Amino acid sequence: MTIIDKLKLKRSTKPAKPKTAKRPKKAETLQDKARDHLWMHFTRQGPLSGGADVPVIVKGNGHHIWDDKGKRYIDGLAGLFVVNAGHGRARLAEVARQQAEELAFFPLWSYAHPAAIELADKLADYAPGDLNKVFFTTGGGEAVESAFKLAKQYWKLKGHPMKHKVISRYVAYHGTPQGALAITGIPSMKAMFEPLTPGGFRVPNTNYYRAEEMGFPGGTEEEFGLWAANRIEEMIEFEGPDTVAAVFLEPVQNSGGCFPPPPGYFQRVREICDKHNVLLVSDEVICAFGRIGEMFACNAFDYVPDIITCAKGMTSGYSPIGAMITSDRLFEPFSKGDTTFYHGYTFGGHPVSAAVALENLKIFEEEGINEHVRKNSPKFRAALERLLDIPIVGDVRGAGYFFGIELVKDKVTKETFSDEESEKLLRGFLSKALFEAGLYCRADDRGDPVIQLAPPLTIGPAEFDEIEAILRDVLTRASKLI
Ligand SMILES: Cc1ncc(COP(=O)(O)O)c(C=O)c1O
Repeated sequence: MTIIDKLKLKRSTKPAKPKTAKRPKKAETLQDKARDHLWMHFTRQGPLSGGADVPVIVKGNGHHIWDDKGKRYIDGLAGLFVVNAGHGRARLAEVARQQAEELAFFPLWSYAHPAAIELADKLADYAPGDLNKVFFTTGGGEAVESAFKLAKQYWKLKGHPMKHKVISRYVAYHGTPQGALAITGIPSMKAMFEPLTPGGFRVPNTNYYRAEEMGFPGGTEEEFGLWAANRIEEMIEFEGPDTVAAVFLEPVQNSGGCFPPPPGYFQRVREICDKHNVLLVSDEVICAFGRIGEMFACNAFDYVPDIITCAKGMTSGYSPIGAMITSDRLFEPFSKGDTTFYHGYTFGGHPVSAAVALENLKIFEEEGINEHVRKNSPKFRAALERLLDIPIVGDVRGAGYFFGIELVKDKVTKETFSDEESEKLLRGFLSKALFEAGLYCRADDRGDPVIQLAPPLTIGPAEFDEIEAILRDVLTRASKLI
């Protein structure tokens, strides 16, 4: 008897393993089902297992959302920087219905469908320079992953096979796939998944409020911008230009609390990238589609990247989609012979999502949403800056409809909170208190503790005042806790 026969015999004579019985069903409330079965993203499940309730959101309209008990909240984060045109747009739902009825699905693998073609054409129109080629994904992390892979393959095709490293900024979030995670600059989100895709290197971010803590010798914002951009060149030179493929930067960096680029920053980065033959990727997963008052935020800050990655607001969240938009230069080696970008997603450029995106962008144009953001952004900023008289409000920063409020222990020294204090302040008090006061927004400490606001782009001065009033009450109470 061969060893294989023996093994077969062993397997066939083994008694069948009893099927593990499912736990008996308990009471069937949504809370019970959520506790028993729903694994939420980036969420501590412990408190739920311990009996805490999950906030369940059942409805949205305009800039409001409602929970399952009928309580109304201001959606101060547009879901997750997504619902830019606001909730409850029947027109977007109707377009989704029509597209699903006409052609629910077809892939973009060697075939195409009209919605993806029209949307690619539209995005290429909005994108600056010769960014004319659109590769669809289902979300932002996939768009970043696609850009990382494209950069590597592009340089191989151009005879630079060692160009594979990517540079990004400390605290920046660029998504969770293992390549994108190698670009993400938040150590605590990466540690448990090491080893990641090799090649990720980090440089200082554009945090002017804490510029000196990062090594900036002091000076104007313009000088800081130049200093921060030069750290990118330093890293390229240190690692060797022949090994660096791309730099990934958000126009306004989200994680750490809405850091806008200092004047001249992106112009200097562009120069550095051109000098060293390194691609510049503008990761606009949050910043595109009106968040900064332009379809693409690189237009707001006057630079032309080699690749734009985008997602979230493209459909205002009525259906998922993402995209990587690249220049003609990057597409050129793929335009010949049998060269192929061996990369794709079944649902990338889904017909329903593409049709919804087209309608969403039509709404943007008809209602002048970008102009509305540009006109009202200074009023939003002014409303939040009025909070600077509260003892723990250290800094208010951002652009468009995208603002961060940094909380500090001491305004004069800018001393931040310890990990325990931050835990007590953000998770122990602020997140819950703001929500109870009727404002859904983000209280975050991936960098220093911040409150972040990125509401639907349809709101105006009346809502800014309402948001300010809620923040004033809750932050004043928080000041007394510390
Ligand atoms: C700048 C940036 N890049 C990438 C991502 C990942 O996008 P997604 O969650 O759609 O995968 C995000 C998500 O917030 C982001 O802010």
